[in-house]
Amino acid sequence: MDLDGIDPQRLPRHVACVMDGNGRWATKRGLPRTEGHRAGEEALLDAAKGAVELGLEWFTVFAFSTENWRRPHQEVRFLLSVIADDLLTRRRDELHELGVRIRFAGRRDWRVPGWILRRMDETAALTRHNKAMTLTVAFNYGGRAEIVDAARALVAEGVKASQVDERSLRKHFYLPEMPDPDLFIRTSGEYRISNFLLWEIAYSELVFMDVLWPDFRREHLRDAVREYQQRERRFGLTRGQRDHDGLPS
Ligand code: IPE
Ligand code: IPE
Ligand code: MG
Repeated sequence: MDLDGIDPQRLPRHVACVMDGNGRWATKRGLPRTEGHRAGEEALLDAAKGAVELGLEWFTVFAFSTENWRRPHQEVRFLLSVIADDLLTRRRDELHELGVRIRFAGRRDWRVPGWILRRMDETAALTRHNKAMTLTVAFNYGGRAEIVDAARALVAEGVKASQVDERSLRKHFYLPEMPDPDLFIRTSGEYRISNFLLWEIAYSELVFMDVLWPDFRREHLRDAVREYQQRERRFGLTRGQRDHDGLPS
């Protein structure tokens, strides 16, 4: 493995990725957009393996947003089948063998077919004791929806206004124990967040890459990690304070 230039002591603990550009990849080849989603699933497997090789603890990918339901019906159906049949059936054993714990983040609302929820639950149960890495698949996920859902849960608990703080709100996120991403990657040359992990990326390092997601391979992940290691994180402090406090760099 070419770890050239990557410092194993300063790896990001959590990498989050917006897998974008499947449609354009297919259109460029004169194929239907759905072929891009199929190829994107291959890319995800390679990226996940690369993340395990690197020794990342957490890898989180944006698979389907709360806004993606508004795409043409056929495309939505195809995306659901790629996630359910390929990722949750064909690939999950491979990922399980690699010691990957697979989990899901997102709204479990009426729009998600029951059979998909069941497969997600089975996958999460099968892999729950795995220790090599946690792969979180954000499905029917929206950063705004997550914050709204957490606020609703607090209200439902009857929490007093004076007790609402960052910690109490965060406890109600979809995966409260997941650390904030250190590195946030978006592919396809777009410079936006598109409603992914809005709260959690407050201090993440953002890396935007031109590669279209179906062409993404573990080498691209390593390039992003190299770029991350060039950055200086300060968390609102001065450089001297940061060194003194031993914050992650
Ligand atoms: C990302 O690729 C996959 C999903 C959003 C589910 P796109 O389908 O958004 O591809 P582009 O951005 O149109 O090329
Ligand atoms: C973000 O990509 C969602 C996923 C990758 C699942 P989109 O393609 O939906 O985002 P926009 O429309 O370019 O902002
Ligand atoms: Mg897109």
